[in-house]
Amino acid sequence: MSQTVVKNISLLVTNNPSLGKTELGLIENAVLLIENGKISWVGAGESAPTGEKTIDAAGKAVIPGFVDSHNHLIFAKDRAAEFSARMKGEAYSAGGIATTVAATRSASDDDLLANATRLVHEGLHSGSTTVEIKSGYGLTVKDEIRSLHIAKQLTDETTFLGAHVVPSEYKGKADEYVELICEQMITQVKPYAKWIDVFCDKGAFTTEQARKILLAGKAAGLLPRLHANQLAQGDGITLGVEVGAASVDHISHFNNDDIELLKKSKTVATFLPAAEFSTRGNYPDARRMIEAGVTVALASDCNPGSSYTTNMPFVIALAVRDMFFTPEQALWSATKGGALALQRDDVGHLSVGSKADFVILKESSYIHLAYRPGVNLVDEVWQHGKRI
Ligand code: NIG
Ligand code: FE
Repeated sequence: MSQTVVKNISLLVTNNPSLGKTELGLIENAVLLIENGKISWVGAGESAPTGEKTIDAAGKAVIPGFVDSHNHLIFAKDRAAEFSARMKGEAYSAGGIATTVAATRSASDDDLLANATRLVHEGLHSGSTTVEIKSGYGLTVKDEIRSLHIAKQLTDETTFLGAHVVPSEYKGKADEYVELICEQMITQVKPYAKWIDVFCDKGAFTTEQARKILLAGKAAGLLPRLHANQLAQGDGITLGVEVGAASVDHISHFNNDDIELLKKSKTVATFLPAAEFSTRGNYPDARRMIEAGVTVALASDCNPGSSYTTNMPFVIALAVRDMFFTPEQALWSATKGGALALQRDDVGHLSVGSKADFVILKESSYIHLAYRPGVNLVDEVWQHGKRI
């Protein structure tokens, strides 16, 4: 049984308040012991055990690996021209998704897998040790199955998003497409999907359609989550809470009733500031949610349209600078918050028994993630107890 000790950690973020100070469970001059891919001891340096192999963190900070709970990685080609047009004043709309659907349908399995693998590795090297991946650029039975089959090769956190938009061949026949999802797609993607998601928004699916799809998914054993209120205020958050969604995501628009509902529920509010950045949208007032006591997560929403980044330190910098998260809230939301959004208790924190997924930063504090934006502060990434 091989044991690795990581010593000389200037500041360790455990996200376990019983282990250290504040909600982040901070321990100074800390040591981690890793055994069989898991944390087997964590505490202050003076009382630390020894191991067969020693890693010297050299006075740098260590944080849990990021849990990036919202991504659309199964696609072909990009939409750089659409981004450029947007920067000249065009508005973002759900319609751009059709461009990627056409490219994805005509791509080979190998090309889709290679592109998604590239993006997972890109995220991993910037500290994302757990990622969720959605389908949603296939929108036929065959293309949704193959999207999820590919996603499943890269993560256990796979999400069926057949209800991303109504595909062009069903134009004017949205309810028929909803039938196809409920009657055929759900059962056929089930072996490859853990979650079911719907884009419930202006230009995508109505609340009634979304409810039907989420309930059919639940009946088949898929767990619900939801794209809600990205483009306009609607009933997405109400629906998410009603069906027991693990998370309602984007929520660029919300009102006081939405906050009250979320406060009383287990549904996590997931903010995706890189989407606001890339669509020139207004950043939502996340502080209102945080101050009301709603559980908040941050994710990258990597996709070729509204947010083409896998970089969680960038997301943290945006959340701190533009959404008024404190550095502590942003780090927590990008790690433990993401884990709660995926209903995982083995990641997002560093406690005895949790996965040994962590990042050694190049600086002595996590504050630098927002304080030094655009700089690669990731020194080492460890996943399942191994340095990648
Ligand atoms: O999460 N909101 C819906 N879907 C994606 C965007 C997809 C696209 O533009 O290709 C999102 O932002
Ligand atoms: Fe999304």
